[in-house]
Amino acid sequence: MPGTPNDEEALRARAEELLAAMTPAEKAGQLTQYFFFSLPEGAEADPALGLDPAAQPREVQAALERGEVGSLLFVTDPARINELQRRAVEGSRQGVPLLFGFDVVHGLRTILPVPIAMAASWDPEVIARGQSVAAREARAVGIHWTFAPMVDIARDPRWGRMIEGAGEDPFLGAAVAAAQVRGFQGDVLGAAEHVIAGPKHFAGYGYAVGGRDYDEVNLADAELWNTVLPPFKAAIEAGAGTVMTAYMDLNGIPATANAWLFTEVLRSVWGFEGFVVSDANAVRNLTTHGFAPDLTSAGARALAAGTDMEMAITDPAFAHLPEALDGGRVETAALDAAVRRVLRAKLRLGLLDDPYVDEARAREVLADPQHREIARIAAERAAVLLKNDDDLLPLDRGALESLAVIGPLAASKRDTLGPWVFDFDLGETVPVLDGIRRHVGDAVRVEYAQGVPVVQRTFPSMFDMFGGNRPEDPEGFDPGTAFDEAVRIAREADVAVVVLGEWQNMIGEAASRSSLHLPGRQLELLQAVVATGTPTVALVMNGRPLDLRWAAEHVPAILDIWYPGTQGGAAVANLLFGEVAPAGRLPFSWPRTVGQVPMFYSHTRSHEPENQQRRYWDEASTPLFPFGHGLGYGRFTYGGLTVDRSSVPLDGTVTVAVEVTNTGDREGDEVVQLYLHQRSGTASRPVRELKGFRRVPIAAGATERVEFEVGPDARRYWNAAARDWVLDPSPFDVWVGGDSTAELGTSFDVIA
Ligand code: BGC
Repeated sequence: MPGTPNDEEALRARAEELLAAMTPAEKAGQLTQYFFFSLPEGAEADPALGLDPAAQPREVQAALERGEVGSLLFVTDPARINELQRRAVEGSRQGVPLLFGFDVVHGLRTILPVPIAMAASWDPEVIARGQSVAAREARAVGIHWTFAPMVDIARDPRWGRMIEGAGEDPFLGAAVAAAQVRGFQGDVLGAAEHVIAGPKHFAGYGYAVGGRDYDEVNLADAELWNTVLPPFKAAIEAGAGTVMTAYMDLNGIPATANAWLFTEVLRSVWGFEGFVVSDANAVRNLTTHGFAPDLTSAGARALAAGTDMEMAITDPAFAHLPEALDGGRVETAALDAAVRRVLRAKLRLGLLDDPYVDEARAREVLADPQHREIARIAAERAAVLLKNDDDLLPLDRGALESLAVIGPLAASKRDTLGPWVFDFDLGETVPVLDGIRRHVGDAVRVEYAQGVPVVQRTFPSMFDMFGGNRPEDPEGFDPGTAFDEAVRIAREADVAVVVLGEWQNMIGEAASRSSLHLPGRQLELLQAVVATGTPTVALVMNGRPLDLRWAAEHVPAILDIWYPGTQGGAAVANLLFGEVAPAGRLPFSWPRTVGQVPMFYSHTRSHEPENQQRRYWDEASTPLFPFGHGLGYGRFTYGGLTVDRSSVPLDGTVTVAVEVTNTGDREGDEVVQLYLHQRSGTASRPVRELKGFRRVPIAAGATERVEFEVGPDARRYWNAAARDWVLDPSPFDVWVGGDSTAELGTSFDVIA
C-alpha cells in the first residue's frame, strides 16, 4: 500500500505525482510552517516575538485556504488538530495534509525529568523508554513531529538552554542523542505511536559568547568536528527524520543560511535524507542579522543553503520563493528537492491515506497510568547524590518522628515540571512535599514552611504568555514571618529537607544568567537551617550547576533532583527513604563559581600541566564536583583492570576489562566509565576523554566484570593541521572508574 513506511518506491512515485501538480506558491506553502497559537484569554504576547495573538490565526487560516501551509506547530488539542487538518485536506485545491509539529521536549501530558536530568541517568534504555512515552502521547493527540532532542553540547552554564541538552561531553551526548531518537521514532520513520525526531540546533548554538542566548558563536573546525558535531551525527545515524537550524551566526554566517553545514556536512558527508526546518523566524531573521537585504533574498539564500522548511510566526520569507524563482534567484530543482523531502515525510506517516486523529483514543492514551510509572522511574534514575556524609541518606523512616520540609520549590507543582512544558496537568503532578507526605503517611510528622518569597526575573520570560508559567507566592504568604517560621520547624524536627534552586522560568530559552548564585535569600535560609543543628538534606532543583560552595562544605547530604517531572515528588521520596538508591552521574563538570566557566574535564594538557590545579590564584582550579560524579547508597571498588593486547595496529581494537565489586550491604547501580588519553601525536590531545560507559546493577557483595572495546573510532579525531580525520600511533592511557578523576589505569600502544 502506498504510504506505508516500507514501500519506498511507491512512496517516491506518489510524491512525484503530487509535486507535478503544484504551483510554485503551493510548493512554497509546503515548505512553510506556521505557529498556531491559542493563547489564554487576555494573554499579552512578548513584543519581541512580533506576534499579534488576534491577527496570527487569521493569517494562518487564509494561507490554509490558499493551500499554502505545509505544517503547523503549537496545537495540541486533537479536536483542533482535526479541524485544522480538515481545512487543509478539504478546503484547499491540492488537499495535502499538514504535518503537526511541537516541542515535545520532555513529555506532553506526562512530564519526564528535563533532558539534562535524563542524560544524568547515563541510561540509554530509560531515556529511550521515556521519549517513547512522550512520543505516544504526542502522536495520540495528532502531533507527528517533535523538535527534539536538543543535542547541543553546552560547557557554559550561564546559557540557560544547557538544561535541554546532555551536557558537556560528545561521547555521552552522542549516546543520549541516539537513545532519544530511538525513543521518539521507534524502529522505522513513521511508525505508529511514534513521532519524527528533530535534533537541533545545527550547529554550535551552545557556544554563545558569554553564555548569552542567541549571541554569535565562533568555533574552530577541530572543536566542531570533535566536540559539537558527534551528537548530531549519532542522531542522524539513529535515523532522525529532520534537523533544525540554529538562530545564531556561526563563524560569521547565520547558521540558517550556512551551506557548508547543511549541504556539505549534513547531506554530503553524513548522507542525511530527511528535511531541515529553520528555527522560529530564523529565515526572515536573516534580514535582521544584516545578512540578507530583504525577505526574498532571505528565503532564496536559506533554501539554497539547505533549509527546506521555514518555521514562521508570521509573514514568512518563503512566501517570496515564487518571486525568487521568477527572478532566477532560486532554481526549480532546489525548490522541488525540498518539497519532495517534506512530502516523503508526510507519506511515511501515512497522512495521505489517513490524515485524522482519533480523539477518543487520545484521551485513553493520555490517561495511561504506565506513563506516570515510567516518568517516576526516570526521575529516580536521573537523581545524582552529590554528597552524603556519614550516610545521612537514606533516611530511616522507622527512626524518624518529624521532618521539616522547607523552601518554595518543595511545594511548587509547576516548578517540579521544569521549563518547556505546555500541556501539563497539575492535578497529576506530585511536588516533593506531597511525595514525602504520601510516602510516610501518618508515621512521621511532616511540617512545611516556604521560608523565602518567590524570586522574579528582572524581565519576564517569553513563556509567561502561556499562562501558569510565572511563579507566584501562594495566597496568604507572609514574607515578614516566613523565614523565622522555617527556622523554627527545622529546629523542632529530626531532619530538615531544604529544596533549593532556580524557578523553572529562570532556565531554558532566553534565560541566560551572569551568576550561578541561588536566587533570592535561599542560601541565607539554608545557612539558618543548618545552624539549628538539625541534620539537613539539600535537594537541588536545577538544570545547570549552581554555586553550591557553602553547601558542599556545610550540608551533610546533597541530592540533585533536577526538575524531576510529573512524578518527581514520588521519586524523590523513594530516593530519600531508600526504596531505590541514587546512581545518576553529572553530565557536566560542576564549577565552583561562575568565574571558572567554561570548565570541562577534557581540556588539553597544555603548558605547565603540573600547575593545572593552580590556574586561578583566588579560587581552586578544579570543579566543585567532577564530570561523571555521583554517589550511591552502596560502595563500589574497582580492580583487575586488563587490556587483552599490549599493542595494536592503527585499525586494531583493544578489549579493556575491569572488575567492579559492590562492597556495601545493598544492591545498587554503578556507572562504570572508561577514559582514554593519547600521549603524543600530530595534535595535542585532551588529558582524558570518555570513550565508554555502562550502568550496571550489582548485588550486595557481588563482583561484575565489565568489558569495553576501544577501537579506531574511539581514537580517531579531526586534526586542524591536516584538516582531516587522523589516527595517530601513540601509547594510550586508559582509566576506568566511577567518575572522570578515575585513577585505576593501564595502557596500550597503537603502532603504525
Ligand atoms: C527554539 C526552538 C523551538 C522553537 C519552536 C525556538 O525559539 O529555539 O528550540 O523548537 O522555538 O518552539
